Amino acid sequence: MTRTVDQSWALYDRALAVTPMGTQTHSKAPRAALRGAEPCYLQRGSGCRVWDVDGNEYIDFRCALGPITLGYAIPEVNDAVARQLADGVIFSYAHPLEIEVAETLVDIIPCAESVRFLKTGGEAMAATHRLARGFTGRDHIITCGYHGWLNTMERPGVPEAVRSVCRALPWGDIAPFQAAFDELGGKQIAAVSVACSYADIELGHRFLADLRSLTARHGALLIFDEIVTGFRLARAGAQQYFGVTPDLAVFAKGMSNGVPLSAYVGRRDIMEKVRDVVISSTFGGDALGLAAAKAVLAIYAREDVIGTLWARGRRLHDGITALASKLDVPVSIAGLPPLGQLQLPSPEARVAFEGECLRRGVILFSVLYTNYCLADSDIDEALIAMGEALAAVKSQGLFA
Ligand SMILES: Cc1ncc(COP(=O)(O)O)c(C=O)c1O
Repeated sequence: MTRTVDQSWALYDRALAVTPMGTQTHSKAPRAALRGAEPCYLQRGSGCRVWDVDGNEYIDFRCALGPITLGYAIPEVNDAVARQLADGVIFSYAHPLEIEVAETLVDIIPCAESVRFLKTGGEAMAATHRLARGFTGRDHIITCGYHGWLNTMERPGVPEAVRSVCRALPWGDIAPFQAAFDELGGKQIAAVSVACSYADIELGHRFLADLRSLTARHGALLIFDEIVTGFRLARAGAQQYFGVTPDLAVFAKGMSNGVPLSAYVGRRDIMEKVRDVVISSTFGGDALGLAAAKAVLAIYAREDVIGTLWARGRRLHDGITALASKLDVPVSIAGLPPLGQLQLPSPEARVAFEGECLRRGVILFSVLYTNYCLADSDIDEALIAMGEALAAVKSQGLFA
């Protein structure tokens, strides 16, 4: 174990002088407790592996916070982006790729009659909320799960007037949603938007069907945030896996294997409302993201990406369960194989375990994301590191 991450932390300290938190994304901020272990800066990736600025190699289950479903630097996707780059990134009028990718999404996503593109997941979710309000003429939005910073209301900086028409409710039980409709009266709520909770995602069979009935009964829209579930749980995400069709949905991360692109999709009559409510962005429809998405969609159509994400995830979950039993430690994994959630007894144990894994060349996250490049041998290699890491954390007394 001769790994050092000195250059990473020197860069991080330099970044703090010019960038609050040192990072653009909260989840990428290194943890003080992992100084000396966490690689703050990654230089490159290939397949299921990444290399940090100190030259250390890792098997990466963070997958760039979810969007890497195929793997890093996939030649077919890179070539498509490079070819498009030679022609140009963005133009003064629309590009034909906008139609091609939209047509494919209409073919494969149950709720998609009509499609529009933006750049990030959160702004596309904000677009669906704007559309829902414009279409229904109602103000209130009920959310369930994280939809990006733009849609996170319980924070300083959001006026009370805005907060008062937004309500965040927990995943899994229809009762609080029913109560909100009862309290506000059926004609106040424009939409319910929902992102799956990963640890108890199977509750979605009942919960999403119940939300579908409840919203339909009150003339409110149902919006699925498929930013993580799309192209991971199933190609068309939760709506395909659970067989519940929302009115609108957002896809992003895996749709273009990490090249920034988001799509909001749904019923044509609602989507047509973009004319009046005005959702418009200079970078909506940039050709690089669309070239990547076209290549990604072709790979998903041709190869069993989803089956592989599930199979590798299953091997990982079974392996972690076996390690926990063998070492007699209170560690488990909840949720479904392509996006399982590691359960540890305390935040201290979690940080210590992640640190010990990093020292052995494995990057973890609260959600363990699989990608199409992971071979069984990569999973087995990662499991050996995880077993050593669990033993190390146990010897520190953090599982007592
Ligand atoms: C379920 C979900 N919705 C929305 C978002 C926000 O997407 P973005 O960060 O691209 O704005 C995220 C980001 O992690 C997410 O996981």
